[in-house]
Amino acid sequence: MKTFKTHQNFHTRSPRHWTLDVRHWLVDVALIFVILLFTGCNKSAGPAAADSSAPQKQFTIGMSQCNLGEPWRVQMDADLAAAAAEHPELKIIFKDAQNDTLKQRSQVEEFVSSRMDLLIISPKEAQPLTEPVARAMDAGIPVIVLDRRLLGDKFTCFIGADNKKIGKAAGEWIVKALGGKGNVVELMGLQTSTPGQDRHSGFLEGIAGSDIKVIFSADMKWLEPNARDEMDSALARFDKIDLVYAHNDPGAHGAWLAAQAAGREKQMKFVGIDALPQEGVAYVKQGILDVTFQYPTGGAEAIDTALKILHGGTVPKEIVLGTRMFTKDNVAQGGEELK
Ligand code: FRU
Repeated sequence: MKTFKTHQNFHTRSPRHWTLDVRHWLVDVALIFVILLFTGCNKSAGPAAADSSAPQKQFTIGMSQCNLGEPWRVQMDADLAAAAAEHPELKIIFKDAQNDTLKQRSQVEEFVSSRMDLLIISPKEAQPLTEPVARAMDAGIPVIVLDRRLLGDKFTCFIGADNKKIGKAAGEWIVKALGGKGNVVELMGLQTSTPGQDRHSGFLEGIAGSDIKVIFSADMKWLEPNARDEMDSALARFDKIDLVYAHNDPGAHGAWLAAQAAGREKQMKFVGIDALPQEGVAYVKQGILDVTFQYPTGGAEAIDTALKILHGGTVPKEIVLGTRMFTKDNVAQGGEELK
């Protein structure tokens, strides 16, 4: 038997053999120790662990916002920041052009010379911002255009809701609300910006064929104080105003304040666009606005798209966001989707 043999050997071996055995045994133990050490190390320093401990590539995004003096734009930057906060590899540098086209042009140029990995721009006006964005693209920097469009197609991706559709829906709602006829004041968004143009042309389509008369129309350039001033003029000139269609909620609110100051706010309806929960939707709940149409900021979608671009993926040239309509009848249920 084997054990017996071993036992025999043990007793019959010389002290020299005995020392050799112990040495072999020690070498074996040392070898096992080394092997264990390696397998152990591999567990913590293997390829998988190396990946997760390797520093992740960082990306810097330059964001040029046309004007932070407007609540909707404050919300857009907040939405961008919240979405980016989920991705530690992203850093956003925000710039506010303070409603100044020349300032916005030079901010885009600064972003290009400081070699951002990607640009997001919500341009004040289409024409003057087209060229600086084209130059960013020439420099190899991808550009996402948010909300207001540029001319041509030299950008990576445009994200925004369909302003023509919103304008048309507003026009159709107005025809119904006024029974097909009446006097309307239109307070337009900046006419050198595409949402202002599209909300106007869409509205004209929506009221086509009705007896709605646009008795007063002015460019309030998206700003509440301008809307209030323009509405003062409209109120001074016209005794019968049935409805105010403003291209955004600050405009509608400015018009309401003017009408209220003249004691005439109950004689007319007010229509706005944007539907921020804390602004337009709150106005509907308070009975100040009769309807508002949601204009989503696109902040979260812009970050999604930026990540795809930065990681070498392909993105569509245009992403169209949906919209909802809020009236006093549906506001408690979260509005109604516009098909
Ligand atoms: C803010 C704003 C919004 C409007 C959007 C259109 O500057 O006027 O109220 O929906 O811009 O670009």
